[in-house]
Amino acid sequence: MKKTLRLGVVGHGGRISGVIKSCLRSIEPDLRVVGIVDPDQENARTRLDECDRKDVVFYKTLDEMVRKANLDALAIGTRCNLHAPFAIQAARYDIPLYLEKPVAISMSQALSLEKAFRKTRCKVVVSFPLRVSPLCLMTRKLIEEGAVGRPDHIAALNYVPYGTCYWDFFYRYYNISHGLFLQKATHDLDYMSHLMGSNIVRIAAMGNYGRIFGGKKPAGLRCSKCKEQDTCLESPQNRKRNSSGGTTEDHLCTFSVDCGTPKSGTNEDCSSALVEFASGAHGIYTQVFFSRRDAQQRGATVSGYEGTLSFDWYKNELRRIRHHAPFSDTIKPGEGLSHFGGDTELAHDFINLVRGKIKKSRTPIETGIQSAYACLAATQSARTGRFVKVRQVGQ
Ligand SMILES: NC(=O)c1ccc[n+]([C@@H]2O[C@H](COP(=O)([O-])OP(=O)(O)OC[C@H]3O[C@@H](n4cnc5c(N)ncnc54)[C@H](O)[C@@H]3O)[C@@H](O)[C@H]2O)c1
Repeated sequence: MKKTLRLGVVGHGGRISGVIKSCLRSIEPDLRVVGIVDPDQENARTRLDECDRKDVVFYKTLDEMVRKANLDALAIGTRCNLHAPFAIQAARYDIPLYLEKPVAISMSQALSLEKAFRKTRCKVVVSFPLRVSPLCLMTRKLIEEGAVGRPDHIAALNYVPYGTCYWDFFYRYYNISHGLFLQKATHDLDYMSHLMGSNIVRIAAMGNYGRIFGGKKPAGLRCSKCKEQDTCLESPQNRKRNSSGGTTEDHLCTFSVDCGTPKSGTNEDCSSALVEFASGAHGIYTQVFFSRRDAQQRGATVSGYEGTLSFDWYKNELRRIRHHAPFSDTIKPGEGLSHFGGDTELAHDFINLVRGKIKKSRTPIETGIQSAYACLAATQSARTGRFVKVRQVGQ
């Protein structure tokens, strides 16, 4: 019989508990959450599957959990600002690690993380589902087979239909998320580099701040306590009535001073970047957080002299256009998968890493750090109005 796979979790929140319950456990039913480090024990416990509730032990520190829980695997699912500090500790152990993104939110965190992983036996799956989603993998495969010739240009779009979550929930606190390049574009700049087969080396970026979300409403205000709930388009009742997406529970005000200001730091309503790749190719990336409903769009168009490949995760299709022959194809992957199938792929990598079936994941720590460097450069460029060189891992 297979040995139970003993998982320890730091920060057993909404996202990581979902990954464990829906993805890891469906691949490895013998997985058990045996240890947790989380100051909010009550909520962390309610997120557990029934099979884990009886035996799980809560620990005060990661170090104590590793010493006492006999772990086969580790997952870090805290909020963004704590990923790097915990991952730096985890680099000391020889235990496979599932690490949430962004892997760092500042240059000093990213540099310390790179240093900590320079000499380590700790193997990592960074939670970048888009890179390993079947649609992205198929696009990369076609590029490798020569479908576009040399990839010379990429245009990537991200019209987020659920963008209010970056003002409704904890992402609104700039000290936790450090803006939406790090929070959101970390996925996209990562998969763009993967598709182009080349790292981003230079960025110019721009953002709009405080024109739509954020504002002067009091700190901590919730819709249930607000006089404008009947008219505000973001109240639960109006979101329900208009089918406009976002949480329909009572939530924090998206127009509150808590969301910060352009001066103190705030998430952008929309932002864009012009990117140059080491290969000499260039491209654009743009993300819009106030788009709703059928405006949703996420994907890229990659072109070379021979052809163009264009895909959209929401439409769930890939188009291939041959530039010099009268043939175009549309490829449709399967439907209804978490993060467009990427979460399942990451789960396979993680279980295979833990079981010793593979030596390296498809999203090792370098991918997370390299993407953080690109996002930090974009954040800096948007602030200064200048092109910024992107630091390269191992530089
Ligand atoms: N990869 C993806 O596609 C994806 C999708 C969604 C969210 N995320 C990322 O997942 C992360 C978590 O998001 P979430 O929605 O699950 O948040 P959450 O608030 O539900 O979970 C965070 C957990 O960390 C715990 N925590 C707080 N301080 C801690 C500490 N000092 N030590 C240990 N635990 C601590 C909290 O109590 C909570 O249980 C975010 O960084 C987010 O960017 C990634």
